Amino acid sequence: MKSISKICLIICSVIICACTQNDVLKVTSPNNHIEVIVDVKNESVHYAINYKDSLFIKPSKLGFELKGDRSLDKNFKVIGFQKSHSNTVWSQVWGENKDIVDNFNQLTVSLQERDGLERKMNLIFKVYDDGVGFRYEIPEQKKIDSIKISKELTEFNFSKNDTAWYTPANFDSYEMLYKKAPLSEVPSANTPITIETTDGFFASIHEANLTDYAGMTLLKSKKKDNFSFQCNLVPWPDGVKVKRKTPMLSPWRTIQITDRAKKLVESNLILNLNEPNKIEDTTWIEPMKYIGIWWGMHLGTHTWTLGERHGANTIDTKKYIDFAHNHHIQGVLVEGWNTGWEDWGKKDAFDFVTPYEDFNLKEITQYAASKNINFIGHVETGGDAQSFQEKLDTIFSMFHGLGVKTVKTGYAGGIQTKGQYHHGQFMVNHYREVVKTAAKYHIMIDAHEPIKPTGIRRTYPNMMTREGVRGMEWNAWSSGNPPEHHTILPFTRGLAGPIDYTPGTFDILFKNAKNRVKWNDLDDGTSRVNTTLAKQLALFVVLYCPLQMASDVIENYENQPAFKFIEDLGVDWETSKVLNGKIGDYITVVRKDKYSDDWFLGSITDENKRNVQVTLSFLDKNKKYRAEIYADGSNADWKTNPQEINIFQEEVSFKTTLELKLAAGGGQAIRFVSI
Ligand code: NOJ
Ligand code: CA
Repeated sequence: MKSISKICLIICSVIICACTQNDVLKVTSPNNHIEVIVDVKNESVHYAINYKDSLFIKPSKLGFELKGDRSLDKNFKVIGFQKSHSNTVWSQVWGENKDIVDNFNQLTVSLQERDGLERKMNLIFKVYDDGVGFRYEIPEQKKIDSIKISKELTEFNFSKNDTAWYTPANFDSYEMLYKKAPLSEVPSANTPITIETTDGFFASIHEANLTDYAGMTLLKSKKKDNFSFQCNLVPWPDGVKVKRKTPMLSPWRTIQITDRAKKLVESNLILNLNEPNKIEDTTWIEPMKYIGIWWGMHLGTHTWTLGERHGANTIDTKKYIDFAHNHHIQGVLVEGWNTGWEDWGKKDAFDFVTPYEDFNLKEITQYAASKNINFIGHVETGGDAQSFQEKLDTIFSMFHGLGVKTVKTGYAGGIQTKGQYHHGQFMVNHYREVVKTAAKYHIMIDAHEPIKPTGIRRTYPNMMTREGVRGMEWNAWSSGNPPEHHTILPFTRGLAGPIDYTPGTFDILFKNAKNRVKWNDLDDGTSRVNTTLAKQLALFVVLYCPLQMASDVIENYENQPAFKFIEDLGVDWETSKVLNGKIGDYITVVRKDKYSDDWFLGSITDENKRNVQVTLSFLDKNKKYRAEIYADGSNADWKTNPQEINIFQEEVSFKTTLELKLAAGGGQAIRFVSI
């Protein structure tokens, strides 16, 4: 059994105190740089956060408005508090790092209303060296049985008008480009929202362990100064945000704080605030690389629907399986394999199990197995989540019976259940039900149009990856993703968890895509990929994803020396480090393969060309390495000459300093092999 193991456990201190006097409580991070102050003096509860000598979050309100009941937000007294410290190390089934340090100080504050109802509420704060998590607990009590939260009153009152990278709050989508603006000009935001402060440190607001609750967005507070925000939960159709029974634990509200931007990317706060792995036997869970019958449909050369240009046919799928087999790729995804695509948008359009007549599912899954290739199933619901949920066991048992271990899910379009949003409690619970049922059938999940990641992969490590990002597909049928996009993602969306961006488009200008047919309204005919070829390779390292898809059609990979990098690339990591980075400008990431001595480097820049120096001190001091370098050609430029790539080798050691020459919109990918 390969399960999460506790390597060491040190509980240094537990102080329990019952008191009514102590109405200002403080807890600091183990290194004392972060201080959280909880203030119950004025009969309502506020928290504030200091980082080193700076006030980062001014006193910010906590509590709830409840439907059909008095608000749970004032008239409180502290009836007890508890402080503790814990320092443990746990191991991931898969991930950016094998071992994770979980080192924090905790403060639990027990509150009770002074009069009338005398209802109880606890606040739990965990303070780490890389940030703060806090959550509400409403214990089981006679006065509150079921609760209907009409508003979570949590505030984030930033002390200064710092700079934010954000996407505007949206209850259905995370597929927007990030904007950079002073907090005063941010009207609302999805999380994560990332902030660079004038005091020189960095922070990001998000949530961890989003379970049986509505997703959180942030909304500018109208009453306060211009950089104070309130939690704005995604509602049910009747306007209520969360429907629960007591005892109730909310998700963690997270505030990652680090002195350098790169350390935000390295932070494990979100994972640390989730529960340990609940899947006992994890031997069937395997990160991998895959290709698929997919890009052709987005380009408009193929269709999901049956017809002359139908992508998912038995003959072509076998070609993909053969290509994967010959090129060290472990999986093949096929979309448009099942009936129903003609009825897009209608209720019960898909039964999710009937293949089109030109697609022999049984023959294909057997062929894939004979070549040791994972066939990746696809369930597109078109927003009809309810119908999918009713058939979960039927669908997953069918796939299990066929030896299929991975399923990509999709919820394109609005949620068909009237008044429901992708990010509300109804769908949060649906997505979880899918992951749990899939686990029963030993199936890994890659969810598109998902709820944002909040670290659930720790508890259910079959929840491999998800979209929830403006990914590669946008390049096929819109003005696409500008070069800067990828230099923002690691510091924003990437902090939440793996990204199914699907890099690896080699035919950058779609020169080989003849006879394209426009299939959606966003396609203005100008589409292309806005990077160099070397940057496409670097993205495989920069954007972490345990199921890493190479997006292009296989014809564009044949006889391409650059594809060797994807063939050689590891899928699971012993350790990951961010060597340098500036949000929106550039980033360099290195990862050590879990199963060999290989290291991989990815470095990318925005629309500006730049030289980045990296010292290879991360390499083993006792080894020499061959650096297999995939660099932008000397005249490469994302706009005018995206395809030029320079592939060469060099002998290096931990003492070597490399100068990475990144073209405008370019990047560099390197494999270090010990020799
Ligand atoms: C949107 C998904 O992001 C994409 O990957 C998929 O191909 C289409 N929906 C169709 O399911
Ligand atoms: Ca920039």
